[in-house]
Amino acid sequence: MALAMVILALFLLLCFCSALLRWNEVRYSKKGLPPGTMGWPVFGETTEFLKQGPNFMKSQRARYGSIFKSHILGCPTIVSMDPEVNRYVLMNESKGLVPGYPQSMLDILGKCNIAAVHGGAHKLMRGALLAIVSPIMIKDRLLPKIDDFMRSHLRNWDPQIIDIQEKTKEMALRSSLKQIAGIETGPLSESFIPEFFKLVLGTLSLPIDLPGTNYRRGIQARKNIIKLLQQLINERRDSKIQKDDMLGYFMSEENKYKLNDEEIIDQIITLLYSGYETVSTTSMMAVKFLHDHPKVLQQLREEHLAIREKKNPEDPIDWDDLKAMKFTRAVINETSRLATIVNGVLRKTTKDMELNGFLIPKGWRIYVYTREINYDPFLYSEPFTFNPWRWLDKNLESHNYFFIFGGGTRHCPGKELGIAEISTFLHYFVTKYRWEEVGGDKLLKFPRVEAPSGFHIRVSSY
Ligand code: HEM
Repeated sequence: MALAMVILALFLLLCFCSALLRWNEVRYSKKGLPPGTMGWPVFGETTEFLKQGPNFMKSQRARYGSIFKSHILGCPTIVSMDPEVNRYVLMNESKGLVPGYPQSMLDILGKCNIAAVHGGAHKLMRGALLAIVSPIMIKDRLLPKIDDFMRSHLRNWDPQIIDIQEKTKEMALRSSLKQIAGIETGPLSESFIPEFFKLVLGTLSLPIDLPGTNYRRGIQARKNIIKLLQQLINERRDSKIQKDDMLGYFMSEENKYKLNDEEIIDQIITLLYSGYETVSTTSMMAVKFLHDHPKVLQQLREEHLAIREKKNPEDPIDWDDLKAMKFTRAVINETSRLATIVNGVLRKTTKDMELNGFLIPKGWRIYVYTREINYDPFLYSEPFTFNPWRWLDKNLESHNYFFIFGGGTRHCPGKELGIAEISTFLHYFVTKYRWEEVGGDKLLKFPRVEAPSGFHIRVSSY
């Protein structure tokens, strides 16, 4: 009898679950939508997506083709793994394909944040950002600061075990703080940094505004950061001294982009946020790949020793040195490709539209999933081999499907600055140190590249 009851209960549960799944499919079934599955009400297929990562994407593609529908991260979503469609989406923001980042990110990064604006407002914010990270700015103002920072950051790492993930994160954040507002060690950086970490965590959380949630902490951290930055702006305005940093440039009369304080603060948060994980993770993974590929490390080291040989020990890296780091650039590109630091970008439709023969309703997300392009054997022969030389042979950076730094009107404005930072870091790292992995650290590839318990290396002087 008891067994019959259990079987009946299981049967009813099964019926209930399949009814729920069916209901969710029907709810989102609209003529013209791409094939795919929508999973559970509310949660959709988020668990499968996060757990199986790239394998979930590949298995859906095998069943439904390169464009399929799903329900991930709280929204009905079209996933595109088609290079041509991805390119179209990135190039056609004006046709109603605007950024579609999660609500928590928009709330915490601010309404003037570049990902929150489009049309004329985006043009203004992007113009102001591009002016601040232009090649001439990197050459004359930013590179000296980066060099100065890297020298002191990489001092005295030997002989000891360090967590290179922690060091590269600290490097990306502190180097940006120095460039942006001249913030170095001291009380301001000590109050700023913990708030920034809370802000980052908040952007990656569900927008549930309850005490104790990462979202609530992120919102509070935003408020604290605004207070700190506003205070800095006021002090500078009162003192009437124009400082030679990004904030100084934003505030200066000669800047043709006239931004108000709220816009300046959101620009600063944008700059810090966008360059933080991308630069730190690429640097960490470059260290990992160089360790595993001694021939690559040898050629990279030769490039940097040759630069150093022509200089006095205290001479900084300058623009000409940076331009001469051709193999370093290839190592950075190959690291970004093979590690896939950015899996894709999110867009949202502002109206019903046709895409590649499918009808996409207004308000749906489009996940421009670019990861698989990095492993396409037609573009990159032996795609799973770490081979920086491939970037020297052909002009791979300018092919139509090079999406490592995004594309179209949202192409990364910080690309050259990011490369300059990573190159300078590698310069001091490989000329000063040799290293070996301690071993046993786990590296996750998805949804973000990270070492959950740190990535430890034993450093000794070179
Ligand atoms: C290796 C380093 C980097 C990688 C791989 C990278 C990657 C990307 C990608 C894929 C996008 C496109 C996002 C989208 O289309 O929605 C993007 C946009 C952006 N990146 Fe980077 N990035 C890097 C470094 C930086 C740095 C150092 C900065 C800061 C100066 C920066 C600032 C930005 C900004 C502000 C945007 C938004 C542009 C817009 O919406 O118009 N990035 N980046």
